[in-house]
Amino acid sequence: MGKEILWSEILTFKRSRYQEFDNGLFRLTNLKNLQVLFMKTNNELKQFILGIPKAELHVHIEGTLEPELAFAIADRNNLSLPFNSPEQLRKAYNFNNLQSFLNLYYVASRVLQREKDFYDLAMAYLTKAHLETVRHAEIFLDPQTHTQRGVPFETIIGGISKATIDAEKEFGISTKLIMCFLRDLSAESAMETLTQALTFKEWIIGIGLDSSELGNPPERFKNVFDRAHQEGFLTVAHAGEEGPPEYIWQALEALKVSRIDHGVRCIEDPELVEKLKSERIPLTVCPISNVKLRLFNTIREHNLKKLLDLGLCVTVNSDDPAYFGGYIFENYVAVTEALGLDKNDLYLVARNSFEASFLTQEEKERYIAKLDKYMSEYRD
Ligand code: HPA
Ligand code: ZN
Repeated sequence: MGKEILWSEILTFKRSRYQEFDNGLFRLTNLKNLQVLFMKTNNELKQFILGIPKAELHVHIEGTLEPELAFAIADRNNLSLPFNSPEQLRKAYNFNNLQSFLNLYYVASRVLQREKDFYDLAMAYLTKAHLETVRHAEIFLDPQTHTQRGVPFETIIGGISKATIDAEKEFGISTKLIMCFLRDLSAESAMETLTQALTFKEWIIGIGLDSSELGNPPERFKNVFDRAHQEGFLTVAHAGEEGPPEYIWQALEALKVSRIDHGVRCIEDPELVEKLKSERIPLTVCPISNVKLRLFNTIREHNLKKLLDLGLCVTVNSDDPAYFGGYIFENYVAVTEALGLDKNDLYLVARNSFEASFLTQEEKERYIAKLDKYMSEYRD
């Protein structure tokens, strides 16, 4: 057995490999070595987690912007960030709540201006996801963050969708895009954004709702979600992250969403828990995010295992991995270690991730068959 690799080393390694190519694009390099490094761990459960086929259903593309890439893109665009270095930016990652994180997240997002910026960002995420055996990813984007600054809608979608095509060719990873409305902006602005999205319908499967939750209840967006349904979009909403169970009810009853993002505060309302359970409405839970934004003091206090044991369709996701210090692998590891998940629990979570996805029934079954094969062939 080789020496145990330090997981913090791997994280640093992952962050250090952006290379500028002649065409001006940044890519993560040295993939083979990275994969070998990953597989060299002698921690059996971590290897199991790394290799288990999984889907990621809750990741904001802007939240995958690592400081090194933010600085590289800022340079390329002759922009400056209000920090001297990537290290200094990372030092500012000390959040008290959702709003304190969002403030920084929107500042860093300003470096994204051109199609290739969005391409590089999405490609870096998809490369990492692939290394962690994410077979399918449903990725959020926040168009208003960029269109408000004058970046055209097609620049955003163009860069991200081209990266998803290349990543599928290179790694076999499948993806869907979900466009979120910023709930601290007006319903009119959301409606305008929905209208812009209609031209890009073939690239966008779903509509979501994110940003500052408290004081911005889902029902404010009922009309725009009604229209999204009429246009054939699937829908999700962040609810019950900082907001009360009432917001989850509203997301379900007024917005008619098919999945709840976060939703961890559902546990305060037994009737709601019963509804989520009996209708198998999935929750896309993001454990490290919830601790970094102080919903729970530690992962040990996180209610993910309770929700799983209550029979809810719980999935594990990374949310904004560059800001919270953990991609999907680190999230699975964190809950496994702190809450004592066993291989059956992990199987269930991975299976839920495919079940809860927006893939067709046939595609879901194909992925679940691969997962079952992994389980049957896996040897301790
Ligand atoms: N909650 C709400 N909005 C967000 C988040 C989140 O966790 N991440 C990025 N935008
Ligand atoms: Zn989120």
